[in-house]
Amino acid sequence: MGGELIIRGGRPLYGTVRIPAAKNSILPLLAAALLCQGQVTFEDVPALTDVENSLALLKGVGCGVSSRAGRVRICPPRRAAPVLPEGPARAMRSSVFYLAPLLHRAGSVTMPLPGGCRIGARPIDIHLDGLAAMGARVEMGAGGLTLKAPPEGLRGVDWRMRLPSVGATETLMMAAVLARGVTVLRGAACEPEIEDLARFLGRCGALICGAGTPTIWIQGVRELEGTDYTPIPDRITASTLAGAVAGCGGRLELENCRPDQMAPQLALLKKAGCRIETRANDLTIARQEPLAGGGTVYTGGYPAFATDAAPVTAAAFLTARGETRFCDRVFENRFSCAEDFAKLGAQVRREGCCLVIRGVRELQGCQLQARDLRGGAALVTAALCAAGESRIRGVEHIQRGYEDIAELYSRLGARIRWADETGA
Ligand code: EPZ
Repeated sequence: MGGELIIRGGRPLYGTVRIPAAKNSILPLLAAALLCQGQVTFEDVPALTDVENSLALLKGVGCGVSSRAGRVRICPPRRAAPVLPEGPARAMRSSVFYLAPLLHRAGSVTMPLPGGCRIGARPIDIHLDGLAAMGARVEMGAGGLTLKAPPEGLRGVDWRMRLPSVGATETLMMAAVLARGVTVLRGAACEPEIEDLARFLGRCGALICGAGTPTIWIQGVRELEGTDYTPIPDRITASTLAGAVAGCGGRLELENCRPDQMAPQLALLKKAGCRIETRANDLTIARQEPLAGGGTVYTGGYPAFATDAAPVTAAAFLTARGETRFCDRVFENRFSCAEDFAKLGAQVRREGCCLVIRGVRELQGCQLQARDLRGGAALVTAALCAAGESRIRGVEHIQRGYEDIAELYSRLGARIRWADETGA
């Protein structure tokens, strides 16, 4: 895949897509495999750079790892190495998920501060405060951190999170399942990916109840067995495709998805004029007439409108008949794509945490720059809706969360391809 996407927009999208497993499930699940004594197999794993980096981290701490055609096998070592490889650890935020497993399986962990999308400050204080409450000693260094477990191991704790962080809930669940005694996580996040992690850990022998609600109870056990597991489908990939057909027009059938996990976005698109039919595990979405403005949308923790779905849905409303306002209360810089929306001719303005869109009749293709994962995917949607040619740089952001996005959309009738090494 080249360093640039070339898109000639203005075509409707038609076809069927089978939604792959959720990136935001498989990333914590891969780390959680370290907690198990035996082999763990994950099915349906998408080929994402964040997955490649996760496999590099697992190998770096001593796991046997094999990956073929979406099936990933992990054989954790009896005792893991305590230092995460610098490159992969800096490349994504999900390296934070290795703190808890390595405290259990190596007795300590040293890693650089995690990377990830620059959509806000994204500190990891809630992860660290919770682990410290369970007995870990935290030492912050110049470019990274070291955590040490007490000789007797982590202990259960009754802990209230200062805000419902998805990742910190997952970190503390992974710490609690092998800790001594009972842990109660209060004010926990409720995302479906958290329930998915709890389901996997339960399959391995963990004792967890309440995952998916704001209070999670965990009784620590001595060890976890390996298992085979298929993560839930990626609700944000499904939302990205729903946003694309809402913007471009056409008709898409999404298989292996969970419409119940994307309800706020589907309700908005239906109100704006899309025809949507849903069944338990698939949905059909079509749009003929131009969208109507969508009014004001607030994102928030699940089951509110997903923050990750906001940019890719906003792109559909750039050519709606009327005004739409997306207000993101999760991250400080969710709409980094606004600047490039404006370069396409969209009428957008930032008002605090809100992106205000006044729909225009037509967008005009141009040179665009992706700055984060979902903002980059939103630029692809906007370019697919625009007349003329667009070229998108910064595609490495998009490849973190979408398997070959050019192949995905060209199968649906879009004129989109990777530039070759000469840029042509
Ligand atoms: C997860 O990130 C997802 N990533 C994000 O998806 C998603 O946007 C986010 O949850 C919210 O749903 C993965 O699951 C790998 P948070 P996470 O901790 O865990 C603040 C994508 O595009 N916070 O719930 O990092 C934080 O700064 C990615 O797929 C602290 O202050 O999100 C943010 O403002 C982007 N201290 C808010 O909480 C902490 O210790 C929510 O963050 C942790 C978080």
